[in-house]
Amino acid sequence: MKIYFAPLEGVTDEIYRRVHFECFGGPDKYFIPFISPTQHFTFSSREQKAMSPEENKGIPVVPQVLTKNPEHFCEMAARLKEFGYTEVNLNAGCPSGTVTAKGKGSGMLRDKCALRAFLDEVFLHCPLPVSVKTRIGFESADEWNELISIYKDYPFSDIILHMRTREEFYKGRPHIELVENAMDAFSCPVVYNGDVFYQEDAEDVSTRFPALSGLMLGRGLVANPAFARVLKGGKPATKEELKRFHDRLYRRYLEAWPKNAVIGHMCEIMVYMSCMYVNPHKLLKTLRKTKELAAYEDAAERIFTETPLRDDPGFDLMVLKK
Ligand SMILES: Cc1cc2nc3c(=O)[nH]c(=O)nc-3n(C[C@H](O)[C@H](O)[C@H](O)COP(=O)(O)O)c2cc1C
Repeated sequence: MKIYFAPLEGVTDEIYRRVHFECFGGPDKYFIPFISPTQHFTFSSREQKAMSPEENKGIPVVPQVLTKNPEHFCEMAARLKEFGYTEVNLNAGCPSGTVTAKGKGSGMLRDKCALRAFLDEVFLHCPLPVSVKTRIGFESADEWNELISIYKDYPFSDIILHMRTREEFYKGRPHIELVENAMDAFSCPVVYNGDVFYQEDAEDVSTRFPALSGLMLGRGLVANPAFARVLKGGKPATKEELKRFHDRLYRRYLEAWPKNAVIGHMCEIMVYMSCMYVNPHKLLKTLRKTKELAAYEDAAERIFTETPLRDDPGFDLMVLKK
């Protein structure tokens, strides 16, 4: 079973991916959060860094493209091929209103004829193998069979399924039972994504659908950076490893970013990673109030040294609401 690191815009940037790869590894592929080509192919500095061959050297990364324009997609793929990438991923899942209003991301699922026309063009001209990360409908899961009948006509290198509709964003449980329809119809590798937070979630999905070629992990892997390694038979994270991971991340961000941005960003990552610890809430609260580097370092140190690790680490959605 392959394990992929999901793209998480604002979290799994090039610094995070490299430090994760160095300290834990485990994922067979790290997906780069979406790059959105414009008419003139000008990119934000985030996007330039994200796709830079230097920044990604030695790491098995897959760039993801967000567009509804097949020419832009293929032109982008040609550039990525020149950079040395060997696969390009289509984002057909982003639920954000500003994205879907332009017919991109999961907005592509609304107009099924346009989706087919897009894929026809892409598979005629794209110079790289194409994978897709898709939701199962725009408004309703009833759209899934029609989407399957479209996707099954194209030779995707992977079809990654996030089993929710756009309407559902990340709420409620994924429609896992509808994976069955996809397994029956698709001849290309199928990867499951969504709410795999504990080892037993991964076991449930893979036992239920043994023909899946892999699992894509997002929030569960940010919470427990050793999760992919564990699912591949490796050892769980130790306290020392988590501290080393944190310290290296923190140092690399400080080298690249302004100090205030680093504190905010590290707090965001620590909220996820707090799921590794028994009752970290008080210390986490202190950490999130810090404004100065010294105070941040002190509060982080206390989490790493004073809080015991949980026996059954896994992402808990409630931490994002606290
Ligand atoms: C903060 C955040 C940023 C995300 N950015 C992207 C993105 O750039 N591209 C994408 O395809 N999905 C993106 N996603 C969706 C995730 O890749 C993934 O599908 C989702 O988190 C569900 O998987 P999980 O339950 O394992 O976290 C994002 C999700 C979150 C929470």
